[in-house]
Amino acid sequence: MRNFLSDKAAWLHQGAIRAMFDKMTGVENLISLAVGEPDASTHPDIVAAGCRALKDGYTRYTPNAGYMTLREAISATFLPELAYKPDGEIIVTVGAMGALSTLFHVLISPGDEVIVPEPTWVNYYTLISFPGGVPVPVRSSIDQGFKVTAQDIEAKITAKTKAILINNPSNPTGAVMTDEDLKEIAQLAVDKDLLVISDEIYGMLLFDGLQVKSLAQFPEMRERTVVINGFSKAFNMTGWRVGFALGPEAIIRKMTILQENIISCVPASSQMAAQYALSRLDTVQHTVDVYREKRDLVYDGLAKISGIRCIKPMGAFYIFPDISAVANDATKFCYDLLAMESVACVPGDAFGESGKGHIRISYANSVENLKESLARIQHFVSHYGIEEL
Ligand SMILES: Cc1ncc(COP(=O)(O)O)c(C=O)c1O
Repeated sequence: MRNFLSDKAAWLHQGAIRAMFDKMTGVENLISLAVGEPDASTHPDIVAAGCRALKDGYTRYTPNAGYMTLREAISATFLPELAYKPDGEIIVTVGAMGALSTLFHVLISPGDEVIVPEPTWVNYYTLISFPGGVPVPVRSSIDQGFKVTAQDIEAKITAKTKAILINNPSNPTGAVMTDEDLKEIAQLAVDKDLLVISDEIYGMLLFDGLQVKSLAQFPEMRERTVVINGFSKAFNMTGWRVGFALGPEAIIRKMTILQENIISCVPASSQMAAQYALSRLDTVQHTVDVYREKRDLVYDGLAKISGIRCIKPMGAFYIFPDISAVANDATKFCYDLLAMESVACVPGDAFGESGKGHIRISYANSVENLKESLARIQHFVSHYGIEEL
């Protein structure tokens, strides 16, 4: 029989994170620090709002760009000083992934390059490549605090560069670019006439009182930035699948037409739950407080383990320790840690070349599990290094 798949489909492969999930199956006494998802459930009041919506008849298609009331609430909550127009400059999407996917499909002509700082959430590579784009990594290291500079980015700009993608705070490192860091990148985008895609999905999860601007807020940037955000991480709503994009009308309108044709809309009840969530920002503050305590627990615990080096994450719920003093191969390290101590982490290589020698730990887990996993990692590392180097 013929192979019915397209050439493009042949290129699709499961990544290293999925490989780790496969290995985790059936492991007893497992503590998984591998998942990029909040451990807490959606707040019961938000769940109730979703259920109420279903009972009240929100069971139909919605406008393709999402309910106007939700878009109005988004406009009032996110970057209110930029006053994004609910009609034309905001689209509600199937998670932030839906926003990124439709965005790249309306942006990319074959061969267009998108600059992506590394280590990076690896899905960007597929999201950019599938419509024919070329992701261009810009590497960073722990010594740079996992932050790229405008000069690093400038060195990668070619005649084919269309956009710079910035994920702030970062998955997988938890690093946060400050206004100072962002200012020069914004200026570079203006000077070189580039679009900026600012993925701010972890933007509400910042610690120790840190506040950072959106790239859209810098001079002349509103018209050349698409802000990506959503409800998954800050509101513990991964399964509801509600994200959104804010940006120039010409781009958002095309995304909306594409969404109309391939997805139609985000489920009505999820939109209503998200709309209610925006009236409960108190739940986000609580979430931030809890993650900050867990961040401190994990950072302090790892810092005590000889051979492991980390920088203190200032946002999101990840930490990205350097384990290169203990093991040559992060993938083998993770597989051995899983086999010997039943703790699952993701090898840093999964996040690009500059993730080599690192592992990603998600501390969105219970305090009890985090304490236990730290003890297991300490035990593992104290025996491991000697044999492996
Ligand atoms: C950096 C980044 N952007 C976007 C997403 C997608 O989030 P959503 O659940 O809203 O699709 C994720 C999810 O892990 C992420 O880490």
